[in-house]
Amino acid sequence: MCGIFGYIGKSKDAPKKVFNGLIDIEYRGYDSWGIAYPEKDSFKIVKKVGFLPKSFDFPSANLALGHTRWATHGGVNEANAHPHSDCSEKLVLIHNGIVENYLELKRKLKKHKFKSETDSEVIVHLIEDEYKGKLSLKEAVANVFKRLEGLNAVVVSDGLEIVACKTGSPLVVGKNSDGFIIASDPNAILPQTNNLLFIEDGQMVSLSSSLEYYEIADLKKLEPKFIEVAWEHSSATLAQYPHFMLKEIFEQPQVLYNQIQDLESIKKIAGQINKAYGTYFIGCGTAGFACLLGVYLFSKVARKHVNFSIGSEFNYTEDFLTDKSLLIAISQSGETIDVVEPVNAAKRKGVQIVTISNTLGSSLYRLADTKMLLQAGPEKAVASTKAFMAMVANIILLGFALADKLAQGVSIIEKSAKEIEKVLAKSEEISKLALIIKDSEHMYILGRGLSYPLALESALKIKETSYIHAEGFASGELKHGALALIEKGTPVIVYVPDDETKGAVMANAMEVKARGAFVIGVGFADGVEENPVFDFFFKVADCGASSILPHVVFAQLLGYYLAVQKGLNPDKPRNLAKSVVVR
Ligand code: M6R
Repeated sequence: MCGIFGYIGKSKDAPKKVFNGLIDIEYRGYDSWGIAYPEKDSFKIVKKVGFLPKSFDFPSANLALGHTRWATHGGVNEANAHPHSDCSEKLVLIHNGIVENYLELKRKLKKHKFKSETDSEVIVHLIEDEYKGKLSLKEAVANVFKRLEGLNAVVVSDGLEIVACKTGSPLVVGKNSDGFIIASDPNAILPQTNNLLFIEDGQMVSLSSSLEYYEIADLKKLEPKFIEVAWEHSSATLAQYPHFMLKEIFEQPQVLYNQIQDLESIKKIAGQINKAYGTYFIGCGTAGFACLLGVYLFSKVARKHVNFSIGSEFNYTEDFLTDKSLLIAISQSGETIDVVEPVNAAKRKGVQIVTISNTLGSSLYRLADTKMLLQAGPEKAVASTKAFMAMVANIILLGFALADKLAQGVSIIEKSAKEIEKVLAKSEEISKLALIIKDSEHMYILGRGLSYPLALESALKIKETSYIHAEGFASGELKHGALALIEKGTPVIVYVPDDETKGAVMANAMEVKARGAFVIGVGFADGVEENPVFDFFFKVADCGASSILPHVVFAQLLGYYLAVQKGLNPDKPRNLAKSVVVR
């Protein structure tokens, strides 16, 4: 999703620094990019559709703003890419978020010349009017920002100063001896400095040779609180791997070992769940499926009921929340707006917030009363793999902690890590399967119980990487409609763990086989692999309640190989972004 990176300081290499900063945030997904830097009395703006080039002819300047755009308002073209400028090209702006009332605001700007269809450009023209009216840049930006509806991060410059403010969308400032950096992702600042200031909602920063920090509402001066973070720069390299997705899949055994090193947070959160009067899990996409798994797992392992809602739906059911409720937000990025918004709303009601995230310092991390870091390491591929592994491992540990059997939880996680190593060693088999089914238009994935969220996650992995229409089902639902979709040769993946779902799921496998499906079995249950119902069987040893962990690796690898064999880049699926910071 859109990325912001700016620099002001003593260095004359500002455009180069900004270009490198954009490279560091490009994993978040974008369709066009642009960089602006002062040249004589105005700004020179370079904008391009597509990805950043390998190199760039860097001019000399001590200030630059750069942006990676993920189109929302207006198509993917150079005009709509950021930075945007005012009529005189003396002000430039980069923006993340959506100005919900931009049409109404644009109507009042009849005398201005618009070069794009974006909501963002409206902001710079509004600032132009205020600025021409002899206000300082920060006064002009504050006046305009207060008129914007929606969640926005705005960064503006007049060539001498950078002014930035936000609500909702993340913005971080880095400071070193050489100058100031502003970015939407702290990871992009870390190669330059670990000294960071997280701008809070409703606050504004002005950067020149010094830094000033304000409340937007009344421009009251605030004391900036920089923190020295101890993280490593997360621009993970590919090492020997052709893609980040494959690298991240192969890192998963280690990710599991990381989860069992320190169990203090698990014990603390289990205690909070026990005390709470209603626990709610929220997350989106893959993280949402990890949450749904929590509902099944807590009920199976700990006889504990918890609620789950997709982040974007939570506001419609939040009426049940009280100050005795517990909200557990799960998010790799910690920035997913569909989770951040309901967490903010719940916090206002006095709900206790737990965040389980992979990103230190992220919005959800900072909003939480109890914070747990996933320790999965940077995840750069858009398709989430190792973060899901870490989320599920922690949910399993929480379930066993609630049942007062944490040691048993640790032991099945260890067993799963070993089993995943075996799955990875057999990845060639999955690659061959991908070759057989890569031209399919549709694919279905069936599971019951714990394997139902697994089926949903498997379908998501396959569809986002290979663009094959893949749907996950609770296999009991087949006869209620989905069976009509099965034709001769339709690939159907059936998860067969050695648990109470085995008999029923095998019956469902027979049903799809009888309608001509190409049936792919995954799991282990005495003799099941020899059953002629399967056209292909991928054997995975039973790991009890954590069998989902090695099973999902099968689907991740299948998604990966399907993409590669179809000539697609699995790291950057079309239309998707790593971090979804707009509604
Ligand atoms: O950063 P988050 O975990 O909050 O992201 C949630 C989803 O956007 C994310 O899981 C998405 O569905 C992935 N592309 C799935 O692979």
